[in-house]
Amino acid sequence: MKADTQTIDILLLGSGGREHALAAKLAASPRAGKLYIAPGNGGTANCGENVVLDDCDPAAVAAFAQSHGCGLVVIGPEAPLVAGVADAVRAAGIPCFGPGAEGAQMEGSKLFSKQLMERANIPTAAYGSFTDEASALAYVREQGAPLVVKADGLAAGKGVIVATELSQAEEAVRECFGGTFGDAGNTVVIEEMLTGPECSLLAFTDGKTVVPMVSSMDHKRAHDHDEGLNTGGMGTVAPNPYYTEDMAHVCMETIFLPTMEAMNAENRTFRGCLYFGLMLTPKGPKVIEYNCRFGDPETQVVLPLLESDLLKVMTACTEGTLADTEVRFSDGAAACVILASGGYPVAYEKGKPITGLVDGQLPGEENVTVYHSGTAITEDGTLVTAGGRVLGVTATGPRLTNALSHAYEAAEKISFEKLHKRSDIGLRALKALAEKQ
Ligand code: AMP
Ligand code: GLY
Repeated sequence: MKADTQTIDILLLGSGGREHALAAKLAASPRAGKLYIAPGNGGTANCGENVVLDDCDPAAVAAFAQSHGCGLVVIGPEAPLVAGVADAVRAAGIPCFGPGAEGAQMEGSKLFSKQLMERANIPTAAYGSFTDEASALAYVREQGAPLVVKADGLAAGKGVIVATELSQAEEAVRECFGGTFGDAGNTVVIEEMLTGPECSLLAFTDGKTVVPMVSSMDHKRAHDHDEGLNTGGMGTVAPNPYYTEDMAHVCMETIFLPTMEAMNAENRTFRGCLYFGLMLTPKGPKVIEYNCRFGDPETQVVLPLLESDLLKVMTACTEGTLADTEVRFSDGAAACVILASGGYPVAYEKGKPITGLVDGQLPGEENVTVYHSGTAITEDGTLVTAGGRVLGVTATGPRLTNALSHAYEAAEKISFEKLHKRSDIGLRALKALAEKQ
């Protein structure tokens, strides 16, 4: 029985580990009624009902939410946000956690986000932007390496090339204009390369108040020692030891509030989760990217530390009452190790049976949650791999060292053919903690 009679039925869009973490936390709310996840995955099926629905079709999503009496729609991934799904849901009179298409431009266009930061004087890397190959190549040669070449539009996490040599930067420019990233590469942003530890900072906002969540650290490269290709993220830890209280204060004043205010000034009021990809440079924190949504796999370490009711917080974001709502995080730590299909992020096989789990979780493991991303359940009930990132094993503990060792021990109990995981998630964070002492 739910403690509160006024329950809210929810529609959650997406199918990754992030959505499993969101689904688990929403389902745990005493005010949660029915939870639909579209399309969901093998893990979200244990938190609510997976439904078949094109999550990028604004009219279809709004119609589903209306016909099922949903009192809240939560949008996980960027594609439906950029496609204007939140606008359609709100136009149908249903509260929606997530920005409209105008707000989602901060992720949908790198050039838009650079111009916004320029106008609002928000610290970020110096840049040039180009719509033709010849001028871009001329700029690259004039600046010299290292440089970072970015396709303007959404490129499924692949459109950023960090070029340490001039020839790499030239090649990246040719790739962008040659169509490797489709229309996303028609405009190219070329940035100065920043240095320093990276930090992911997610924040709730209702357009009036910004409430930062606990900081986290992603591990984007496919292999140990930050080698190999960039991926969506191979593991995360929270909190990020480089993100000190002083840093948090500077970020609030120079980045978070100015970003919210700049969006408001342009009638792009943002109600949802702002994701600040920060580089903590020797000259202070700078923005390397904005996302208009929760991070994946950052969510899998941030939400397990949230002690407040996520449904309440999300509702407050839609109603503009965030300032009066408690958002409390535990002072413990969390670590998430991603179990990926060998070959990810390029070519990998699917359909491999997964062993070690019972009802999608590890039996007998306390403080461990297995978040599903690329999993599916076959007709005969077997849990199989269905994507590049398959599972995220999250453990929480009083300190990062406990959380990390527990996550790795738990991950050892799960197997599937060609499983690949990094073995050094969190080591940099542990080193930073040791140096602090
Ligand atoms: P993104 O896809 O925008 O998250 O970028 C992928 C990765 O590229 C980031 O996590 C950074 O490691 C790196 N990156 C992006 N922009 C810069 C920059 N200006 N300087 C150094 N590294 C960057
Ligand atoms: N983990 C990086 C992202 O969600 O964009």
